[in-house]
Amino acid sequence: MTITRCPMHLDEIDLFEEGAEEFWFESYEILHRDAPIHRLPGEGDEPGSDAFIVSKYEDIAAIVKDPATFPIRFEQGANNLEQEIIAEHGFGDAVNARQTLRPDIEQHKQHRHQLTDPWVGTGAGRHEGMVAEACHRLIDNWIADGQVEFVKGFAAPLPAISITKILGFPLEDLPRLRKWEEAQVRRFVYGKTHKNIMSDEDERENARTLAEFHAYIQEQIDHKRRHPEDDMVSFLTQVQYGDEKRPLSHGEIASVAYGMNIGGNETTQYALTAEAHLLAEQPQLAEELRADRSKVKVFVEEAMRLYAPTQGLSTRRAARDVNLRGVDIPKGSLLHLRYGAGNRDEEEFAGADRVDLQRRKPARHLTFSQGPRSCPGSGLSRLEQNVAVNAMLDRLDDLRLAPGKNDLKRQPGIMLGLWELHLEFSERR
Ligand code: HEM
Repeated sequence: MTITRCPMHLDEIDLFEEGAEEFWFESYEILHRDAPIHRLPGEGDEPGSDAFIVSKYEDIAAIVKDPATFPIRFEQGANNLEQEIIAEHGFGDAVNARQTLRPDIEQHKQHRHQLTDPWVGTGAGRHEGMVAEACHRLIDNWIADGQVEFVKGFAAPLPAISITKILGFPLEDLPRLRKWEEAQVRRFVYGKTHKNIMSDEDERENARTLAEFHAYIQEQIDHKRRHPEDDMVSFLTQVQYGDEKRPLSHGEIASVAYGMNIGGNETTQYALTAEAHLLAEQPQLAEELRADRSKVKVFVEEAMRLYAPTQGLSTRRAARDVNLRGVDIPKGSLLHLRYGAGNRDEEEFAGADRVDLQRRKPARHLTFSQGPRSCPGSGLSRLEQNVAVNAMLDRLDDLRLAPGKNDLKRQPGIMLGLWELHLEFSERR
């Protein structure tokens, strides 16, 4: 069934049907009012078990901060076939690396602190010059035309160039890396239901592409071991990890690099597109930001709150029987955390459906999740977005939607993103 009209009642809501993405925000209002904990019968991982959509800010924040009661689901039942096939191609170590590197929450903290924070988390500021240069080069490509398809011309390549440089992969490999990255996110775009399920045939084909990516990463690791440079993969080949101060295995390094590539691309692309869209539709925002650049930070957070690229993920389960808002959630149930709905919860954010440049603590949204397992790449993504918005304000005047060219269709799946955004502007002198 394709959803073609806005749901009016709870029983008309299916967030995961084709076309539903056009009405997500309206659906959230109904969920908040009528079913803040919404049961999806039979949609848990175990036969006969249920899943629950959690849509209120307070509940999602509490769940992600309580990993003992709501542990991570891992990939149980989600993409085992993919992992099996990748292992059959000889990359089983990379598939198992989550267990060897960070089997519990303490190790997970160590992993973040030692391996990812210095590059894409708290230490991401070191890339500011590189990101700014990439931004301006991309703008140089089309500024004289007075128009651009923004996704292809800016929002997609900026994060791709940034993460490729950070990892230390050659930039000439960008087309191949894009193909692999699309395979990495395929289930989140084309997968069905909240569990992002693909057919076995698609799984097989996709996993073969992902195995190629693993082979590529292995080659890169071999090369970096022999010729280390100032990049993240070279660093991972040399780091002394954990209390035992041990080197990382090939598979462990590959698993970190693999995560950086999947996390570091599409999500930030969608955020950048949402920001350009807002600036084009609400020119007064651009004026306000130009008058006070310190508000760019707030704008970026507000845009991410309103248009969270990762609208929801089924990544937690209940470790024991719990009751949330009067709803019994049996042990083993699967939880779909609807970050995008929590971000639009009026009880947490007054005037939730508009950008408020005066909002206090704007970064408390759920777009990167919260708690010990929140997104490790938020530092890099925030950096890219802030640098990009400032570059747009510096160089583009009178930014507007190109008349007659935009259908503003959202892409399918679990992510919130536009396929295309056609803009016009004049060069700012
Ligand atoms: C606007 C951009 C981004 C959004 C909306 C986003 C969102 C998220 C969310 C919601 C999670 C799940 C957290 C949880 O389960 O509690 C996550 C995990 C993750 N993100 Fe991001 N992310 C973004 C950018 C990035 C970037 C730039 C990177 C890497 C450079 C990255 C790497 C990762 C990785 C590796 C994980 C998995 C962490 C794990 O398994 O422990 N993300 N992200």
